[in-house]
Amino acid sequence: MTAKALPPEQAHELLLSQHASIRRLLEDVEAAAAATLDVPDPSGPAEALRTAAIWLRESLLAHMESEEALLAPFLEASADGQARLGVLKTEHASQRALLDQLAHTASSRDEPDVLAWRVQGLARDLLADMAVEENELFARVLPPVAAQLQRTRA
Ligand SMILES: [Fe+2]
Ligand SMILES: [Fe+2]
Repeated sequence: MTAKALPPEQAHELLLSQHASIRRLLEDVEAAAAATLDVPDPSGPAEALRTAAIWLRESLLAHMESEEALLAPFLEASADGQARLGVLKTEHASQRALLDQLAHTASSRDEPDVLAWRVQGLARDLLADMAVEENELFARVLPPVAAQLQRTRA
């Protein structure tokens, strides 16, 4: 079974578990950012921050792709859903641009403070965005689809 074909309950569970992993990564990356800003010579902590930022970017890119693929089959079925999918893709496009910027800063080794500030800003935005996705998107779209499928099967 491909990810696209997952039933709504499993899609919901998978998305929530991806968000939980990202929250743990954000804790690591925020701790690395705080450590970088905290010391006069940030060269040591900055290396850990670069690694954490690159890992965060990879995980987020994979999550966004998975999120779009998992939700699309449920959202494409209605005009309202298509509009929600459009908003999701627009938000993901701007998050991908921020992540590219982050990767660029991470690769230039002379700006550890800028990388730390970028990471902190991105972490705040992502935490807020995940809460909105969980409350306004997953919870509103996936349980009604699951309930509807249950009624159809009954
Ligand atoms: Fe997302
Ligand atoms: Fe998400």
